[in-house]
Amino acid sequence: MKIVTILGARPQFIKAGSVSREFLHQAKLGEEVTEVIVHTGQHYDSNMSNVFFEEMHIPKPNYSLGIGGNSHGAMTGQMIEKIEEILLQEKPDYVLTYGDTNSTLAGAISASKLNIKVAHVEAGLRSFNMSMPEEINRILTDRISTLLFCPTSIAVDNLKKEGIYNWKNNSELVFSGDVMKDGAVFYKDLAVKPSGVEIDDNFILCTIHRAENTDNIDRLTNIISALNEIAATNQVVLPLHPRTRKIIRERNLDINFLTIIDPVGYLNMIWLIKNCSLVMTDSGGLQKEAYFFIKPCITMRDETEWTELVESGANRLVGAEKNSILHAFKETNEFLKIEHNMNLYGDGKASKIIFDSLKRNLINNS
Ligand code: UD1
Ligand code: UDP
Repeated sequence: MKIVTILGARPQFIKAGSVSREFLHQAKLGEEVTEVIVHTGQHYDSNMSNVFFEEMHIPKPNYSLGIGGNSHGAMTGQMIEKIEEILLQEKPDYVLTYGDTNSTLAGAISASKLNIKVAHVEAGLRSFNMSMPEEINRILTDRISTLLFCPTSIAVDNLKKEGIYNWKNNSELVFSGDVMKDGAVFYKDLAVKPSGVEIDDNFILCTIHRAENTDNIDRLTNIISALNEIAATNQVVLPLHPRTRKIIRERNLDINFLTIIDPVGYLNMIWLIKNCSLVMTDSGGLQKEAYFFIKPCITMRDETEWTELVESGANRLVGAEKNSILHAFKETNEFLKIEHNMNLYGDGKASKIIFDSLKRNLINNS
């Protein structure tokens, strides 16, 4: 079985870390599985890319395309062209894509036009907000995927409602669980405290990078203003995404009350999640990780794809209004009075289910 994996952005490295490890494990057990890794270059700073390959022992990419820091159309178009060349040469059984970035969509389009099966990890998630670039990417990718690996039962239901798995005869919808859970289980005891920064007890871990917040100055100003106010009582540690750093600089926004650090690797991040008192974020992945480590989470977005977290009461969806953020912050203790379902995202073996399904699908259709 030959798989070409398309990666490009930080959350994809973290997801692939678990699945690639499973492929290597299966190869050691004697399975014939070869993974060819294509790094599109969407994320390219060392602390947004290399650090994850090193820490998670992801094999070095076979192809590095160096396509990043561009507009959506230019980035996606260039990726499609380059990935097509690679696929013509490699002739894989599957193209494996993760999540909802421009790299995901480029991989799916290149493969499907060559009639190569697309396997999509994190299929079926929906925010129902078509102004988000991620929503466009995930809907289009699901539509042209053959194997749809759903992390949650809600994702399965979304695809069933859309009728996606009936569209092609050989397409398959698999409730795999979430590969991010695999990573959290595997790395939970390997966490490393970030160096070079003083971290208080009861600190709050915060990340902001989504286009809907960073590209809307009112939203970004409100969020930062709320965080500055919160920082008067609790240290707010904010590993700053380069996109957000650039905009904060351009707009000269005051972040002096916050503990700003550079983006950190996964092992530092796990430490920060495990040791914080609260997560405040607009990240998709971090919302789940907060739940894995039983931390309350305030999500500064208008909607989330991970609705089960909000329904559980562990996650408050507050948008970007200063008062809503501050109100949720005051009620943080209430979030923890809920019961956490530790199998909400599977049992940490999603990568094995993915490998088994790829293998079975190949045998059944050969
Ligand atoms: C992308 C994904 C988003 C995901 C996020 C994860 C899309 C449409 N968006 O958003 O879904 O949540 O990754 O972090 O694919 N930059 C650097 N160095 C880097 C990477 C980025 O300086 O290593 C800067 C560049 O100025 C770049 C900007 O950040 O133009 C935005 O990067 P881009 O990959 O376009 O989008 P993200 O906001 O990172
Ligand atoms: N993350 C990290 N270092 C950081 C910020 C985030 O390792 O400085 C991890 C985080 O723990 C999660 C993943 O990156 O595993 C989420 O990626 P991101 O927030 O960039 O994207 P999203 O999940 O929103 O698409």
